[in-house]
Amino acid sequence: MAKARQKSKAKPSSTKNKLTESQIAVHWKEEEYLRPSKKFIAQANLADPAFVKKFDEKHFPECFDLYASLLDWDKPWRKTLDSSNPPFWKWFVGGKLNACYNCVDRHLAKYKNKAALIFVPEPESEPAAVITYQELYKRVNEVAAMLRDFAGLKTGDRVTIHMPMIPELPITMLACARLGIVHSVVFGGFSGEACGLRAADSGSRVLIYADGYHRNGKWVDHKASADIAVHTATKEGQPIEKVLIWQRYPGRFTSDAPVVANRDFFVNDVLKNYRGQTVEPVSQDAEAPLFLMYTSGTTGKPKGCQHRTGGYLAYVTGTAKYYQDIHPEDVYWCMADIGWITGHSYIVYGPMALGATSVLYEGVPQYPDAGRPWRIAERLDVNIFHTSPTAIRMLRKAGFHEPKIYNYHFKHMTTVGEPIEPEVWKWYYEVVGKSQAVIVDTWWQTETGGFLCTTKPALDPMKPGSAGPAALGIYPVIWDEEGKEVKAGSGHAGNICIRNPWPGIMQTIWGDPQRFVTQYYKKYNKNPKSKNWRDWPYYAADGAMLPADGYYRILGRVDDVINVAGHRLGTKEVESACLTIGEIAEAAVVPAVDEVKGRVPVVYISLKPGVPSTKAIQDKVISTIETMIGKIARPKTIHIVPDMPKTRSGKIMRRVLAAISNHMDTGDITTLANPDIVEQIRELVQGRNATPLKEGPEDIKRFGEEA
Ligand code: PRX
Repeated sequence: MAKARQKSKAKPSSTKNKLTESQIAVHWKEEEYLRPSKKFIAQANLADPAFVKKFDEKHFPECFDLYASLLDWDKPWRKTLDSSNPPFWKWFVGGKLNACYNCVDRHLAKYKNKAALIFVPEPESEPAAVITYQELYKRVNEVAAMLRDFAGLKTGDRVTIHMPMIPELPITMLACARLGIVHSVVFGGFSGEACGLRAADSGSRVLIYADGYHRNGKWVDHKASADIAVHTATKEGQPIEKVLIWQRYPGRFTSDAPVVANRDFFVNDVLKNYRGQTVEPVSQDAEAPLFLMYTSGTTGKPKGCQHRTGGYLAYVTGTAKYYQDIHPEDVYWCMADIGWITGHSYIVYGPMALGATSVLYEGVPQYPDAGRPWRIAERLDVNIFHTSPTAIRMLRKAGFHEPKIYNYHFKHMTTVGEPIEPEVWKWYYEVVGKSQAVIVDTWWQTETGGFLCTTKPALDPMKPGSAGPAALGIYPVIWDEEGKEVKAGSGHAGNICIRNPWPGIMQTIWGDPQRFVTQYYKKYNKNPKSKNWRDWPYYAADGAMLPADGYYRILGRVDDVINVAGHRLGTKEVESACLTIGEIAEAAVVPAVDEVKGRVPVVYISLKPGVPSTKAIQDKVISTIETMIGKIARPKTIHIVPDMPKTRSGKIMRRVLAAISNHMDTGDITTLANPDIVEQIRELVQGRNATPLKEGPEDIKRFGEEA
């Protein structure tokens, strides 16, 4: 492949109120390609270009049969794709299977004694615990029996799971999958209130918790959050019948929260009645929902992305095999949390369907020091590693040379969740990967189930900072606001869309199919009556650009979502939380660049007349956000301003606030109803001396456009 040397010229930033993609010139240095080693290629799952050809557009959709055939089906599918009711696709129509059977039972014949999960507790004094596939099978069956016979759950019911990174989390998920119970895992770092709202939305009667866990050297009392979740769900009209509590140390309750009689039950006690029981996996229709994963969008309310059994499992298994290069004999460690989609697809379902050994780490990467991940890798002989740019930046900052001290050898590494700066990528490659491991930068989303853009590790050269070409069977396109294609090599950015359906795409938004259509398909659909899938491109709400070499570079969100440390945060959710405070009149949340976390939320508030601006109000904002959403949404700064910059129709110009927070040009403000406020806010935020303007990143330039 020819070296990409295409550069686009810097253009002065637009003075118009709204930048269109064609006005945004993206200027960045093209990086040199790096190639995988011969050793890696020799053992790779995907090294045959003929396999790639099978995913050419002319073979769509049947190309995806190659992924589905990696699974064991109880009944084969009749048709690969039914696209007769766009955008509600049906994959592997008529097929039946069970996700738990595919991740557990089918490995017993060959791998019964192989480690399925290796749990690494955060305290280094506690040894790692190995769960073999045989042990996993036993434990999943017992939990399934308990869920069915004690909790009264049956196929199609939803259950909300709010648990930390302990093995009981994947065990519970797999037990649900065995029975066709739709699990909804809420990230442990979300507050009890956030969990309760999600439980109510999904109609869960049962909550599953852990009493506590270790995090960053501290003990987190998690059970207390269950009581808040029950209260919130009940207030929302969804009574919770049972709370099942896993004990981090079986037999010992490590929480100060009370145990509510006839509602709270210790799983370890109840399980005694189900010892040795087996439960037949329920044969599920390929389209039966497997799980819900709530994520932030452009409105205040998080949406439940509903993923199907057959298509999802096929897609994550295929992509884990070909892009992560997982073989059963590998030791694979994804440092994400199972409470996010990365953990669902690439800790639990994909790797386990392949019979992998998956490492589960309870704590934070840099505890007790920045050498911890590399000690774990050395000890367990991890050879496939998967993490986010935020974790890489953090470890690089805290222990630049640390990886060199430890004797581990990765063959493969993944980066996911945010754009990665080329210099950070190079540290990951040279220092963490010891210039031996191949890297894939995988771009995708909660909604998409699995990877959309990434290099094929043995076939495509790597390019620091770029996700790479489209994944097999994915046909992206970049359009401008008017629907005109932004061609490869044009040097301009636009909105990345996927022209075709694929098996990993979510089925719908739980309980809100209309929102599913408007959020993801309306923007570029020209004929809502069309029954042709070609008229229904998926709108990802990410900005991207495409140089002549076909390597997509993802620039970040173009909607009201900000990406904090690789986690999606809806600015409208944070604003809604602020507005519950009686003293606050208006709130606007914007992203600011952070050298470790990528982006962090900055809150602007204006107060009701007569309310004095005090530190107490700022503290109230922080505590309210932490209570309603969780610590992950904690703002970096809170500015109390006399008024918000507004259009004549009264709309808050968040774009102007984002520009000020990032020392960027605010663009044309003469059309504002109150242009004078801009200078006042700038002085308040940046101080009296005017700071030189910076050329900020694309997502910040475009922030708030979609509103
Ligand atoms: O903006 C993109 C960014 O993360 C968003 C999706 O977040 P979430 O649904 O939480 O899923 C995260 C794990 C897949 C996207 O809209 N993003 C994800 N991967 C990348 C990325 N940005 C740049 N490069 C990536 N590799």
